[in-house]
Amino acid sequence: MTNILATSPDLAGALLRLHYVDCFVRGCEASILLNSTADNTAEKDASLNKDVRGYDVIDRLKFKLEEACPGIVSCADIIALAARDSIRLSNGPDIPIGTGRRDGNGSSASDVPLNLPPANATITQLLSFFAKKNLTAQDLVILSGAHTIGKAHCYSFSDRLYNYNGSGTSDRRLDANYQTVLKQECTPNDMKNLVGLDAYNATAFDLGYYLGLSQMKGLLSSDVALLDDNITNTYVLHQANNNSTDEFFADFAISFMIMGKIGALTHSKGEIRRTCSVVNPAPSPSPSPSPKPNSAKTGSAFSSFPSGFVVLIYFCFQHY
Ligand code: HEM
Repeated sequence: MTNILATSPDLAGALLRLHYVDCFVRGCEASILLNSTADNTAEKDASLNKDVRGYDVIDRLKFKLEEACPGIVSCADIIALAARDSIRLSNGPDIPIGTGRRDGNGSSASDVPLNLPPANATITQLLSFFAKKNLTAQDLVILSGAHTIGKAHCYSFSDRLYNYNGSGTSDRRLDANYQTVLKQECTPNDMKNLVGLDAYNATAFDLGYYLGLSQMKGLLSSDVALLDDNITNTYVLHQANNNSTDEFFADFAISFMIMGKIGALTHSKGEIRRTCSVVNPAPSPSPSPSPKPNSAKTGSAFSSFPSGFVVLIYFCFQHY
């Protein structure tokens, strides 16, 4: 991860987001990595996930792990560990997450809008999406702090610059100077450019996101919506004025670990995928056993002759 992020620092945000979008839909079981098939459109092809990035990094990590210890590390754990490392390598907290997640065997694009809030979600919608995952208002405002790193495409927020709610003007909750900067980055209908989610420093895991929000420099509508609830608003303003990251880091570590357990498959559930983008092939059927007379058909208690025979002899001797 150190090498990967040294070459492409942009991927830190992408990999952190990958863990979130994985966990919120079907749980942290790598359903986001599965490819669509002829008869199924998978999560990664849902419109809300069209800009999710970092799949090739997970494939590279999986390839190395399979070479070293085949069949041991799940794709879901690789996503979680890559997110953890992305945070730490962006100067964020070192979070002691657990492992043991296993991979699921399904993925459906139709699950995505039911589980991931859109970029223009209101505070009511955000709270309700998070509550469905047993996450509180506190978790919402803390986990949104992940937007201290990474980028968003212009199309994810440009309505706020050019045509907010169909008004033909900009969102009044967007600082005027910041608007000017953003308009230079994003022309109307720009489908390509990316802009840092944190107006101050989009590569360091710090308090810049909250400071920006408190000054009307939040990029997404869903970020600004955090100002509309007492609990989330208080937290934003508190962290914006904090002169140490200690408290945010400690809070983030806790909420991140809770998020990383949502719907995780453990023990005998799920599988360890060999390739992250496809489920394992079904095991080849074992050679069919020779027919057993009087077993299933008759419903006899002795489903296999030798053990039934031994039990019978045992009872005879007991009786005798
Ligand atoms: C609260 C609800 C959330 C909404 C509505 C939301 C929405 C978005 C959107 C629209 C983008 C930009 C996508 C693009 O245009 O390319 C984004 C990026 C990002 N999100 Fe969120 N997000 C939410 C919560 C979270 C959470 C909980 C995390 C992680 C714990 C997270 C981590 C990120 C990161 C790191 C990026 C940057 C991705 C990159 O650089 O490619 N988000 N999010």
